[in-house]
Amino acid sequence: MRFNDTVALITGAGSGIGEETAKRLASEGATVILVGRTKQKLESVAEAIPGAHVIPADVTVKADVARLADYVANTFGTLDVLINGAGGSKSSFIMDTSEEDWDAMQNVNLKSVFLVSQLLGGVMKKQAEGEQEKRKRSIVNITSLSGHQAGAHIPHYSSAKAGAINFTKALALELAPHGIRVNSVSPGFIDTPLTEGSLQNEKFAKTIERNTALMRVGESEEIANVVAFVASNEASYMTGSDVLVDGGWLIK
Ligand SMILES: NC(=O)c1ccc[n+]([C@@H]2O[C@H](COP(=O)([O-])OP(=O)(O)OC[C@H]3O[C@@H](n4cnc5c(N)ncnc54)[C@H](O)[C@@H]3O)[C@@H](O)[C@H]2O)c1
Repeated sequence: MRFNDTVALITGAGSGIGEETAKRLASEGATVILVGRTKQKLESVAEAIPGAHVIPADVTVKADVARLADYVANTFGTLDVLINGAGGSKSSFIMDTSEEDWDAMQNVNLKSVFLVSQLLGGVMKKQAEGEQEKRKRSIVNITSLSGHQAGAHIPHYSSAKAGAINFTKALALELAPHGIRVNSVSPGFIDTPLTEGSLQNEKFAKTIERNTALMRVGESEEIANVVAFVASNEASYMTGSDVLVDGGWLIK
């Protein structure tokens, strides 16, 4: 199996794409560490994953991420795969966006990727430096179609996701000498708790279908499949890349 002898940490693992990715990696042999804000949600995901570890943490808070990094460094001999899945969105036009909302969107979608990559990526880098024969390690950031195409009603989200795509490339350059690959996966419209409110609006759902070449919304599993490939050694020559998984939204 692709993730035998692999320790993988997934943020935003309590629901949606993060949850599905954790299940996918575990089903292929990984020991998974589930990270998110709500312990209860993580524990309910862990019920379906034998041996899963649950660590509640707010990835926008440096002290939380530092505690997480210490725990991982002291508990597991290695961290091989890091998935930055935590994120969130909110709708408002630029002229109506408060400073608080702007900051909150940057924090959860961009600063969190920086904090987790610096501190957990730092653990990975330190482990790699101590190895004669380096293990294969990789980081995958869940970015967004919105990082490629601005949405007028989600300016803070699309700006943060565009930043996360570029951050991914900078991190890939920095960690390549340590044998750590860094890539991002940009989903289009996926049916998750993040989008279920808007997808319940029939008119909105129809607009999404009409503007997607494959004429439907995607499922979390269809993103998890790609994340698993990018994280695995099958993608061993891939770093600094962004994979768009949008059902053909952008080409349409
Ligand atoms: N669903 C989509 O259409 C879509 C499209 C493009 C990108 N994405 C991205 O995919 C990722 C997963 O989103 P999803 O659609 O599965 O939604 P989701 O809401 O189900 O998952 C996001 C998870 O992140 C967690 N989270 C949020 N803030 C956090 C914080 N500060 N600390 C720790 N955990 C936090 C949430 O509790 C939640 O479990 C996000 O980064 C999102 O931006 C989703």
